[in-house]
Amino acid sequence: MSLFHRLPPVFRALGAQALAFAGLVALARLGLRFPPMVWLLAQATGAVFLSRFAALPFRWLLIQAALPFLVWAAWGLGLPAWIYLALFLVLAAVFGGGLLTRVPLYHASRDAWKKLEDLVPDRPGVRFVDLGCGFGGPVAHLAKARPDATFVGVEASPFTWLVAWLRCLPWRNARIRLGSLWRTDLAAFDVAYAFLSPVPMPALGAKARREMRPGTRLISHSFEIPGETPLRVIPVKGREGARLMVWDF
Ligand SMILES: C[S@@+](CC[C@H](N)C(=O)[O-])C[C@H]1O[C@@H](n2cnc3c(N)ncnc32)[C@H](O)[C@@H]1O
Repeated sequence: MSLFHRLPPVFRALGAQALAFAGLVALARLGLRFPPMVWLLAQATGAVFLSRFAALPFRWLLIQAALPFLVWAAWGLGLPAWIYLALFLVLAAVFGGGLLTRVPLYHASRDAWKKLEDLVPDRPGVRFVDLGCGFGGPVAHLAKARPDATFVGVEASPFTWLVAWLRCLPWRNARIRLGSLWRTDLAAFDVAYAFLSPVPMPALGAKARREMRPGTRLISHSFEIPGETPLRVIPVKGREGARLMVWDF
């Protein structure tokens, strides 16, 4: 796989748009003149064509086709430039943490929180980490249910982290850290829980095998670690196929 193909889809998509745009600028410099709609169509067609080379999935091709027209429409609104910067910053604050690792923000159900409670070993001083804790629902619930254990959430998106931090303030045994799960040493925990996406699971499995101590537990919500059969699979309410997978080291 080339270096380009290993880039996250968002960068491949931007690369395809930029290349298509560069091609059109070259044509304009040669003196070609067309109505704006033709330029937009050419930009969309070029970007979709290049996106196929960039191995982007079908839904990205639809986004690539629509993007030039949406940009044109937004331009026509005459909005001040700072609005785009502000929107970008808000989106980055909420979703930025998962952009590169391709992990969106969504939440485990209350049923999953309850079932997680049963998976925290019943001895005082247990340390639990939620890798990518979102708005902190599981950490807050568990910290309230188990005052004898410590619950840590790690979250990479600043706004999401702030919500989780505020939500967990009432619980002295809950801590929410702003940072990357990849920089969190799992050796410090008895239970590591993650609800991410299929993309980081091979790397998470390798990290857990490297760092987790014997007698500790890894729980993944809904996403498998390729090649690792879970010890237990517990269905939970939520999207279709929602389940907790448990591996004991
Ligand atoms: C699907 S949500 C899960 C929320 C929560 N753990 C739950 O079970 O309800 C995944 C979260 O992981 C965060 N995330 C993604 N990549 C991360 C990373 N490398 N380090 C820390 N957090 C990350 C995202 O910002 C998102 O809030």
